[in-house]
Amino acid sequence: MAFYGIFFFYIIFWTAVVSPTPILNRGYIPKTNNIDFTIEKVTLAPDGFTRQLSTVNGQFPGPTIEVNKGDRILMKIRNKLGESTAMHAHGMLQRGTPWFDGVPWMAQCVIPDDYEFTYNFTVADQVGTHWYHAHETMQYVDGVFGALIIHDPDDPFKSEYDEEIIVMLNDYHHTNAQILLKQFLTPESHGEEVRKIDISTKAPPGSKCVDNAGLAKFEFVKDKKYRLRIINTSAFSAFFFSIDKHDMEVIEADGLYTKRNKIHRLPINVAQRYSVIVTANQPVDNYIMRSEFQKTINLPNIKAIVHYEGAPDDPEPKDNPWSDSLTEYVDLDHKTLQPLEEEKIPESTKKFEFKIDFHKNSTGVVKAFLNNSSYIPDINFPTLDKIFKKKSFNETSANAYIFDKDGEVVDMYFINSDDGEHPFHIHGYQFWVLGTGNGDKVDENELNTHNPIKRDTATIPASG
Ligand SMILES: *[C@@H]1O[C@H](CO)[C@@H](O)[C@H](O)[C@H]1NC(C)=O
Ligand SMILES: *[C@@H]1O[C@H](CO)[C@@H](O)[C@H](O)[C@H]1NC(C)=O
Ligand SMILES: *[C@@H]1O[C@H](CO)[C@@H](O)[C@H](O)[C@H]1NC(C)=O
Ligand SMILES: *[C@@H]1O[C@H](CO)[C@@H](O)[C@H](O)[C@H]1NC(C)=O
Ligand SMILES: *[C@@H]1O[C@H](CO)[C@@H](O)[C@H](O)[C@H]1NC(C)=O
Ligand SMILES: *[C@@H]1O[C@H](CO)[C@@H](O)[C@H](O)[C@H]1NC(C)=O
Repeated sequence: MAFYGIFFFYIIFWTAVVSPTPILNRGYIPKTNNIDFTIEKVTLAPDGFTRQLSTVNGQFPGPTIEVNKGDRILMKIRNKLGESTAMHAHGMLQRGTPWFDGVPWMAQCVIPDDYEFTYNFTVADQVGTHWYHAHETMQYVDGVFGALIIHDPDDPFKSEYDEEIIVMLNDYHHTNAQILLKQFLTPESHGEEVRKIDISTKAPPGSKCVDNAGLAKFEFVKDKKYRLRIINTSAFSAFFFSIDKHDMEVIEADGLYTKRNKIHRLPINVAQRYSVIVTANQPVDNYIMRSEFQKTINLPNIKAIVHYEGAPDDPEPKDNPWSDSLTEYVDLDHKTLQPLEEEKIPESTKKFEFKIDFHKNSTGVVKAFLNNSSYIPDINFPTLDKIFKKKSFNETSANAYIFDKDGEVVDMYFINSDDGEHPFHIHGYQFWVLGTGNGDKVDENELNTHNPIKRDTATIPASG
C-alpha cells in the first residue's frame, strides 16, 4: 500500500546571508506591493457541498498575488483562525531573508491566534508561476492558499500568447483535513484509503448542498492563444492535466523558461507549476478540461469546461479524452523538457545519498523516514535561530545535513523503496534534475549533465 506525502527539504547554510543585488529590468522600476491577508474560518460551498473552510480573506482559493520581477512583497497576515499559523511563498528564493520563508520551527515561530505578522521580501531575479500557502499543519488543504504570479517585463514568449489564465488543481476534500490527518496517523490507518474514501464518497444524507453548482468554466475565443499557468495545490494527488482535442506547448516549469515542448497531457505533481500555450484552434463548441488521477489510484476525473465564445452553454460536453494510456505517475520526461537557456553545470564538491522509506514508528504509526530518521521539529527553538546562535544539530530527529562552504555544489541521490512516487521540493533553491529511474542503483553514465532542467519540485519515482 502506498503512503503519500510531499517531502520538504531545507538546506542549512552556515555562512553569512548575502543581500541580493538589485536586478534592473528594461524600463521597469520595481515597486512595493502591500498585501493584506486575514486568515479566517468561513462557511462556503465551492463544489455545492456546504462546509467550513480555512480561508484567506474569506475566499477559496485565496486572492492571487501578481507582482513584477524585482518587486518587494509586504504580506501582512492577520491571524483570526483560532489556531496558530505561518505563511510560505512556494518557489521564492528568499535571498537575504530566509527568516521570511514561513516554515514553523524551521524559519520562525508560529503566528499565534489573534496576532499579526508581516513578511517582507523581494522577488529579485525571479519570474513565473508560484503559489503561497499556510505551512502549519494541514491548513492549506482546508483552503489557505492562492496563486503568486511574477510577471516578466522581458518575457521571451510574450508575443506568442494573447491572454493568461490561471488554473489551480486541487484534490478537494469534504472532511476537515485535521480530522483526516488524525485518522491517517493512527496505528489502524490504511494510509491512502483515508482520503480515497473521503474523495469518492457522496455527501452523507442531510448535508447542506447547493443544487447545480456546475463545473468550473474557462472562456476561450476562437483562434486566440492562451498561456495557462497550471499550479498543483493538491494535498496528495498527482494529476494528468489535459484539454480534449487541444494540444499544448510547455514553456515554463517552476518559474524557469523551457524550450517549447508539445504534449497532449501534462503530468503535474503536488506543488509543481507549468505554463503551457494552448491555441483555440478547434471548432466553436464546449470541451472538457480534465485532471486525471493516476490509474493505480482509481478515482473519478476532475473536470472543467472550456467554452468557446459563440457556443451554446452545455453543462456536460461529450467526452473526448486523448487516447494515450495512463500509468503510474512520472514527471514529464526530463530528457525532452529542456531549459530555454543552457547553463554549464558545475562539478559537484559533495555527495549526499538518502534512503527513503515509510514504516511504523515505535508506537505503530506509519511515518516517512530519511535514512531511517523521521523529522521532528524542535518547537522550543527554530532551526534558523539555532544557526544564528551557532548551536549544534546533534539530535537525529533534526535530519540536518550541513554544507558549510560558500559555493558548494552538492549531488543528492534519493533511493525510494516505497511503492508510491513522492514529490520532493527544496526551499530557497532550484536544482538541476540529472536523472530519475527505477531500481536502487544509480548509473552515473546515465546522468544528464549537459542540459538538465532546473526546477524546485521533482518526483522521485516509486521504487526508484
Ligand atoms: C522591508 O524591508 C526593507 C529592507 O530591509 C526595509 O527597508 C523596510 O523598512 C521593510 N518594510 C517594513 C514595512 O518592515
Ligand atoms: C498534483 O500533485 C499530486 C501529489 O503528488 C498528484 O497526485 C496529482 O496527480 C497532481 N496533479 C496533477 C494535475 O498533476
Ligand atoms: C544514508 O545512509 C546510507 C547507508 O544506508 C549512507 O551510505 C549515507 O551516507 C547516508 N546519507 C547521509 C547523507 O548521511
Ligand atoms: C509516532 O508517530 C505518532 C504520530 O505522529 C506520534 O504521536 C508518536 O509520538 C510517534 N512515536 C515515536 C516513538 O516517535
Ligand atoms: C532503523 O532504526 C530503528 C530504530 O532506531 C532500528 O531498530 C533499525 O535497525 C534501523 N534500521 C536500519 C536499516 O538501520
Ligand atoms: C548535543 O549537544 C549538546 C551541546 O550542544 C550536548 O549537551 C548534548 O549532550 C549533545 N547530545 C548528543 C546526543 O550528543
